[in-house]
Amino acid sequence: MTVVCTTAQKKSILAGIALLLAASLTANSQTADQAWLDHTPWRSTHPILFARSALGKSPMELKAADELMRGSHLLYGIFGVTTDEGDYPTAVGTVDEVHKAYPDVPIPSDLTSDSFWIGTSQRRRRTLVVVAGGDERGVLYGAFALLRFIAQNNSLPKSPIIERPVMPIRWVDEWDNFDGTIERGYAGRSIFFEKGKAREDLSAVSEYARLLASIGINGCNVNNVNGAAPFLVADNIPSLARIADEMRPWGVRMALSVDIASPQKIGGLQTFDPLDPDVKEWWETKVGEIYALIPDFAGFTVKADSEGQAGPASYGRRPADAANLLAAVLAPHGGVVLYRAFVYNNRLDYNDLKADRARAAYDIFHPLDGKFLPNVIVQIKYGPIDFQAEEPVSPLFAGLERTNSAMEVQITQEYTGQQRHLVYLAPMWKEKLDFDLRAQNRPTTVKSIIEGKAFNRPLGGNPGSPRTGPRPWGGGMIGVANVGRDGWLGSPLALANLYAFGRLAWNPNLTPEQIAAEWTKQSIGTDPQVVSTVDKMLMQSWPAYVDYTGPLGAETLADITGSHYGPNIESSERNGWGQWHRDEANGIGMDRTVATGTGFAGQYPPQVARAYESLATTPDDLLLFFHHVPYTYRLHSGKTVIQHIYDSHYQGADEAERLGEEWTALKGKIDSQLFGDVGARLEYQAGHAIVWRDAIVQYFLKLTGIPDAEGRAGHFPGRLEAENARLTGYKVINVTPWEDASGGKAVSCPAVAPTQPKAQQEHPIDVSPVEAPACSAEWTYNGPPGRYDIAVQYFDLQPGIAHFTLAVNDRQIVSWSANDSLPSKRPDGDNSTRFTMRGVELKPGDRLRVDGVPDGSDPAALDYIEVDPAAAVLSASH
Ligand code: GCU
Repeated sequence: MTVVCTTAQKKSILAGIALLLAASLTANSQTADQAWLDHTPWRSTHPILFARSALGKSPMELKAADELMRGSHLLYGIFGVTTDEGDYPTAVGTVDEVHKAYPDVPIPSDLTSDSFWIGTSQRRRRTLVVVAGGDERGVLYGAFALLRFIAQNNSLPKSPIIERPVMPIRWVDEWDNFDGTIERGYAGRSIFFEKGKAREDLSAVSEYARLLASIGINGCNVNNVNGAAPFLVADNIPSLARIADEMRPWGVRMALSVDIASPQKIGGLQTFDPLDPDVKEWWETKVGEIYALIPDFAGFTVKADSEGQAGPASYGRRPADAANLLAAVLAPHGGVVLYRAFVYNNRLDYNDLKADRARAAYDIFHPLDGKFLPNVIVQIKYGPIDFQAEEPVSPLFAGLERTNSAMEVQITQEYTGQQRHLVYLAPMWKEKLDFDLRAQNRPTTVKSIIEGKAFNRPLGGNPGSPRTGPRPWGGGMIGVANVGRDGWLGSPLALANLYAFGRLAWNPNLTPEQIAAEWTKQSIGTDPQVVSTVDKMLMQSWPAYVDYTGPLGAETLADITGSHYGPNIESSERNGWGQWHRDEANGIGMDRTVATGTGFAGQYPPQVARAYESLATTPDDLLLFFHHVPYTYRLHSGKTVIQHIYDSHYQGADEAERLGEEWTALKGKIDSQLFGDVGARLEYQAGHAIVWRDAIVQYFLKLTGIPDAEGRAGHFPGRLEAENARLTGYKVINVTPWEDASGGKAVSCPAVAPTQPKAQQEHPIDVSPVEAPACSAEWTYNGPPGRYDIAVQYFDLQPGIAHFTLAVNDRQIVSWSANDSLPSKRPDGDNSTRFTMRGVELKPGDRLRVDGVPDGSDPAALDYIEVDPAAAVLSASH
């Protein structure tokens, strides 16, 4: 939303200089956004500045040396130094190179691939800083780790740091389409593709790979898991190779999603049966074409027999047949297959109480355990449904003891506020990683499984480290990132999720708090108040989101047949998608017990299965995932289910409001542009949390007829409905779903075609855009005199930029335009938006009026205004 007359705030000189430097570092950059690598400078009289020096000549080592020099200068705000001079001599190279050049430096000789050692060595009066890598990628990771250390501590490490990643697969997936759009992407268009080919200018790809390298990510699957066939057309492979070339110097290997039906769709074969020899030959040739141009190609990601994608089931074959076909042809080249376990029937029968989408992955993949080739990794979404804000860990992690597995998470916030809401996901991912599945009745955390430890699937990578030789594959973590050209993730604080994903994939023992602090110090500021406030906000954000969207593991209540964003409670029911929560007048929840339900609970190892089978031991936050209970059922917390629904939604909306207040307290302590940008986003989020709260609360109040013990549900003090106003031009409309508008109704201003002069009517001319007069809604204020915040709840539709003004007694006090890009083309919970004017003096009898001017398809629809009594201060001076 754009508010007229917002005061432009000047950027601080320091930030300006930093920006200039960042810009000079990224000539041709397309996002110019260095994210956490745009270090906030330390103010120090003893800066630690490195020389640019690499012992080897490989691109990754040269990048490592370059980053150390540039990063250290940026970290201390020292600009204009472009020589190879630094205060600290550095030795940057592989273990062998460092041993040769500095035999006395005690580097362990068993450093494996991707690992590093950082230490210092005294040379007369100077300190030699050593960054040694198990291989070239390890050197690069070591350089970034050293910068990260200095960014946290403003000093060199006192004792050596040695780190090795615990998982060989640390990939991001991008769901980019060849036309430049991105499935479930919320940050603009693709950095990779445009108009059916790789983009001419791929400098943003190189920038992105640099960011990925800085957090230890070693693979990037660049295209959508849906509709992947065109990417493998022979003519397209050279352009894919250009993308791989951009990522290679940063140690990021390219991977591709493939359509298992490609031999038929683009190869001219009659079949894609994975057991057909011609099909195998086709894939061999194709893989040969790829490796000829992309020698370090990482492998394929496969979505098959899922949501309309073709699969081996067409020929009565199993996922292992398809996965092994691809694995066999990739193995000689060192490639892997990430076969997704996201396979389910999306035409389930809602009336069948035994039908359950949650069961699908385990039912299909567990019987195949041990049947996959060693370079197949089964890629399992963290929960059994689909990236929900709250769902249990997938039981399949424990169901594959003789198969490599990886955990798939979403960095792009499809079901968690789509980057318009601040939701720091590291606490949720960490909860999943730490969950103990008790396989074989012993401790088996999810992280120990995907690390390869729990079931003795040793870690390693192909081709392995030069010292240890090739090793069997372990597993890993995959984050669906879907970055775009708009600041990577479209929102500054959302970058904490990309950062956290890389850090957890590197070391799942880090805590979300530690990662938040690291990210904040590098990205926002080092001032202790800034660090503690931002960390607190990040940590509060996921629980708050769950609270105002929740509840109790019922799965998403968002519009699941559309945007997956705003509330639409019944959209998930009575269809084949199986994201049901089965709310009825008397009860709610999916019975997934073995005794009376779908049996899903029995897919877990016995100790966990027993816990979920019983109401007494199922944790409150997953109650409705496993059980169907009456609304009056009492939780462990002592509250009834219905009272929890009311309380958590009011509490969640309050928490969302608090995020904004906490940020506001940082005024003057952080870059002013960032302050304003994030502040506006948090204000939007607080407003949308109210939309969520009201939708869910009024829906369940109507459904159950059980009142809120606190008397809030259904009562909105200070709220004046648009449908009850004195309307000029505005027409009353029913909003669908009804719970997305206060009282189910709103008003909409019909666009009126301009009248054409009579003479022209026989030969109508195209008059666009359609002009529309302002409509207005007017109320009389009858409350006590005082100073109030007035919230206007309107629907911000696209395309079109409607304009609104708020007037008191015909005096306009503020105007704004509805220029956000929100989903849905009709007024509903996706685009219901709140604008608040603070501190307005009111007295009884005052006339409040909102004028709305529609534009294009945006009818300036209005839900209500609210005169906030909480903010009322009886004005002493009046
Ligand atoms: C979600 C998402 C789809 C995506 C799918 C997947 O269901 O909405 O857009 O294709 O996940 O992971 O394959």
